[in-house]
Amino acid sequence: MVHERQVALVTGGNRGIGFELVKQLAFEGFKVVLASRDQEKGNRAVKKLKELDLDVLFVMMDINDQESIKHAALNINDRFGKLDVLINNAGVYLDENKELLNMDPAILENSMATNFFGAYYVIRSFIPLMEKQNYGRIINVSSEYGEMGEMSYQGKGAYKLSKLALNGLTQLIAADLNGDIKINAVDPGWVSTDMGGPSAPRTSEQAAESIIWLTDIGPNGPNGRFFRYGRQIEW
Ligand SMILES: NC(=O)c1ccc[n+]([C@@H]2O[C@H](COP(=O)([O-])OP(=O)(O)OC[C@H]3O[C@@H](n4cnc5c(N)ncnc54)[C@H](OP(=O)(O)O)[C@@H]3O)[C@@H](O)[C@H]2O)c1
Repeated sequence: MVHERQVALVTGGNRGIGFELVKQLAFEGFKVVLASRDQEKGNRAVKKLKELDLDVLFVMMDINDQESIKHAALNINDRFGKLDVLINNAGVYLDENKELLNMDPAILENSMATNFFGAYYVIRSFIPLMEKQNYGRIINVSSEYGEMGEMSYQGKGAYKLSKLALNGLTQLIAADLNGDIKINAVDPGWVSTDMGGPSAPRTSEQAAESIIWLTDIGPNGPNGRFFRYGRQIEW
């Protein structure tokens, strides 16, 4: 239980990779805050994990809503006074095989709103809880579709741009950070979830394993890097 008394927060924790991240972090000894935009879904997910005797609690947070994010940050500050680990997992894939110039622009705007601006506002609101203790690990769940090389290929434009921007944000924030606070991005692979679909070869368990090792990095560990299930990708 090396992480006893450490507090971790996972956005979009009610299903898919997020739910598995909450479970694995709790098994490692973290006190885990499962954030979900939906009270009923969030409470149902927490109940399942409590039945396994895991130390998990629910906080409502819609990452498209800045007030909701600020409210969640105040709530966690009141309860714990700090945050050790933040995993920006919540995300959407909205493209539906439409080309960028022919799609409803709302698809691009909504993808950016959640996958990029959502993570940005969450980081802004929660970093003060890390700065207070001069320690924190932030992990952005990205995608190989966010790699620059992917921009040469057609398709998935809104999703790709949102994850490219998220990767850039990871590097830019890393350059600004002081103290033992680190931020990295990781691609969990193609995973069988509602988003990934049933043909995906990787399970949520495998995806979560390839993400949470970044909570364990030391003061000389990576910062502002992008990993594809455990392997560092050079930008
Ligand atoms: N599955 C893959 O193959 C794959 C591959 C590469 C990267 N990823 C990334 O991995 C992450 C998790 O994906 P997944 O496969 O687990 O997806 P998923 O099964 O579709 O789950 C997405 C989660 O994000 C939440 N969410 C979406 N918009 C939100 C908002 N505005 N506020 C709060 N929560 C929100 C959803 O909440 P609701 O239940 O309320 O909708 C849900 O909990 C995403 O960032 C995704 O881009 C996935």
